[in-house]
Amino acid sequence: MIKKGIILAGGKGTRMSPLTKAVNKQLLPLYDKPLIFYPLSALMLAGIRDILIIVNKGQLNQFRKILPENNNLGIKIQYKEQQNPNGLPEAFIIGEKFIGKNSVALILGDNFFYGQSLTKILKKNINQKKGAKIFLHPVKNPSSYGVATINKKKQVLKLVEKPKKTKSNLAVTGLYFFDNNVVKLSKKLKPSSRGEIEIIDLLNIYKKKKLLKADFIGRGGSWLDTGNINDFNDASNFIYTIENRQGLKIACLEEISINNKWIGKKDIQRSIKFYGNCDYSRYLKKL
Ligand code: G1P
Repeated sequence: MIKKGIILAGGKGTRMSPLTKAVNKQLLPLYDKPLIFYPLSALMLAGIRDILIIVNKGQLNQFRKILPENNNLGIKIQYKEQQNPNGLPEAFIIGEKFIGKNSVALILGDNFFYGQSLTKILKKNINQKKGAKIFLHPVKNPSSYGVATINKKKQVLKLVEKPKKTKSNLAVTGLYFFDNNVVKLSKKLKPSSRGEIEIIDLLNIYKKKKLLKADFIGRGGSWLDTGNINDFNDASNFIYTIENRQGLKIACLEEISINNKWIGKKDIQRSIKFYGNCDYSRYLKKL
């Protein structure tokens, strides 16, 4: 069972400048919540409540204001700073102590997942003991992502990072489950031509050992990009549309926690006080 999760919220967000000049991208509003609430909600839906958030050097206090270590969410949050963006697998090197002897989930701080099947898929895979697991989703523009080619048995045949040409439309989403070997293997990775250690290289090591498996976030689920301003705005509008139709919030962290029986009424009351007089608080009151 995977009990530990890392959110990688580093990166300079240069494609989102000037918005990201003063504020970390993961703290920008995706409709009515900071972006980081959404990947955090995915980990919580998976049942993970021991969480390390890796942030850029100098940005720790920004994050602490909204997600303090001492929170009302029934989860344990720790922070570490990343000195330079040296690639995604660095999360496992920075998080070595946090991971200890455990397996670990990694989610990228700007990834948005949604759909009825999501919790089911997460819970199904959380018990994995050995190897690595990736979650694939069909997209129109696979060249912008890591791309997986699979066979009829849904085994991964090939993984390539941002291929110029590809026949597969299956993107590798920014959610990964790894066994404990990930720390050791990440340390052995050599930087690619763009000067970073690459998650695809790490996954290819697992693939070579026949220890890589894939699951699918099919067409009933959504995985949205927040990589540039237009995508960010589209994702924001998606959340606006669904929330205002249903009157239910996506990624309300307290709601997930109360459903998981991690918190009670007192915590919700504390949260309402923490957020102050706002729409989110009024929603919490109704819980
Ligand atoms: C990273 C990974 C890529 C993956 C993507 C998902 O790319 O390298 O394999 O498909 O995240 O969000 P980046 O967005 O950092 O360029």
